[in-house]
Amino acid sequence: MSEVLTLSGLTRAPQVLGPAVTLPGGPARLVLPGVESSDWGLKAELNLGYFAHCTAEGVIEALREAGLRGRGGAGFPAHIKWQAVAQAHGDTVVVANGHEGEPASAKDRWLITRRPHLVLDGLLLAARVTGATRAIVYVSQPDSVAAARRAIEDVALAGLVPAGVSLEFFETRGGYVAGEETSVCRAINGGPALPLAKPPRPFESGVDGKPTLVTNVETLAHAAWIMRYGPAAFRCAGTEDSPGTTLFTLTGACPDGGVFEAPLGTTVGELFEAAGGVPGGITALLMGGWFGGVLRGGLDGLSCSHAEIEAVGSGLGCAAITAIGPDEDMLSLAADLSGWFEQESSRQCGVCKNGTKAIHDALHKVVDGDADPEHGENLARWGTTLRGRGACAFLDGAATLARSVAPEIAAESGEPQMDGETR
Ligand SMILES: Cc1cc2nc3c(=O)[nH]c(=O)nc-3n(C[C@H](O)[C@H](O)[C@H](O)COP(=O)(O)O)c2cc1C
Ligand code: SF4
Repeated sequence: MSEVLTLSGLTRAPQVLGPAVTLPGGPARLVLPGVESSDWGLKAELNLGYFAHCTAEGVIEALREAGLRGRGGAGFPAHIKWQAVAQAHGDTVVVANGHEGEPASAKDRWLITRRPHLVLDGLLLAARVTGATRAIVYVSQPDSVAAARRAIEDVALAGLVPAGVSLEFFETRGGYVAGEETSVCRAINGGPALPLAKPPRPFESGVDGKPTLVTNVETLAHAAWIMRYGPAAFRCAGTEDSPGTTLFTLTGACPDGGVFEAPLGTTVGELFEAAGGVPGGITALLMGGWFGGVLRGGLDGLSCSHAEIEAVGSGLGCAAITAIGPDEDMLSLAADLSGWFEQESSRQCGVCKNGTKAIHDALHKVVDGDADPEHGENLARWGTTLRGRGACAFLDGAATLARSVAPEIAAESGEPQMDGETR
């Protein structure tokens, strides 16, 4: 992750990492009372039912019934991913992805530093289900690395690592793209932490060329929770399409940002009220982190479930949400964000290298006072044509940003709108 770029009005989430909280009256599953204390550790987790004993089929069925969706960004159903690797019926690898390159997210770091044994419980569960011989925690931030290392030692000393499984951690360096699933496998295999073209996908061939399950640390923590308390209990929070709670990272124009556990489907207004409110009201959001583009208009009542966020043309991603207040200059912010995209591109694909540069150049010209209808048109076009063109989904994030600010630029430059009016 780059340390040099500072975006106007945007705080990198790790800078606000404090104690995590639950929303008033909400269920506490990951953010339990006492979990912030230094006494919390393997003993506390064992008291809660560490390392459930169940068959591989039983686990996959429980994940299916619970409706657990991945917490790493795409929200893919966990049971389908786990099943795909389990079907290899051979020597496989499981990886807990704790890189968290997203600057607006701090929840994975919170989880690994406060509840590492819960993550390991989920990882060893995944190893059992898929028949893995290697179970690897992939981490980059120094306190996450230290916490993962300590927790692995605890679990090994307690004799909880199943025979035939090597429980390891892998310390990675690298920017945003180091957390993409093929980057993860490539780095563990000794290469650079940069994406590879797909196919093959990791579930076909990943670490050591073996079928590999790469899954987010929060997904694993929920999987462990489901095996302790059951899928029906999991579904007591959340919506039909997005069951359970999740760890939201709230940042931006709110005084008390940080990590909040809340049911999926909680509204934007309820979330930011818990973060101390947004003076003057929320004018826009960066939904799903710096990757998710700018979302405007009538946001307080927006329900934070996958279906509802997708219905407004965005994505929940890793549940990092940044509130933009009325004092923020949206276009300057977008120009800064586009600079971050250009900087974080791994520049392996010409279309991404050139596309992120073109978006940044256009937005910079606009901010410098050269707003021209052509810039709005280009950004709107790139927002569509660049989508899906990179070897990884990184370029889609830049395209989403371009598409989300194009109407604003059209308005600034006095370009007629589709309906014939000039805003
Ligand atoms: C550019 C890019 C960066 C990513 N970074 C991360 C990351 O830091 N952590 C993470 O868990 N997933 C990240 N992902 C998603 C992973 O590729 C993968 O889908 C995820 O780890 C799967 O976890 P899940 O199924 O539990 O959601 C990234 C994806 C892209 C395209
Ligand atoms: S799309 Fe961009 S970030 Fe992804 S592999 Fe290609 S150049 Fe790298």
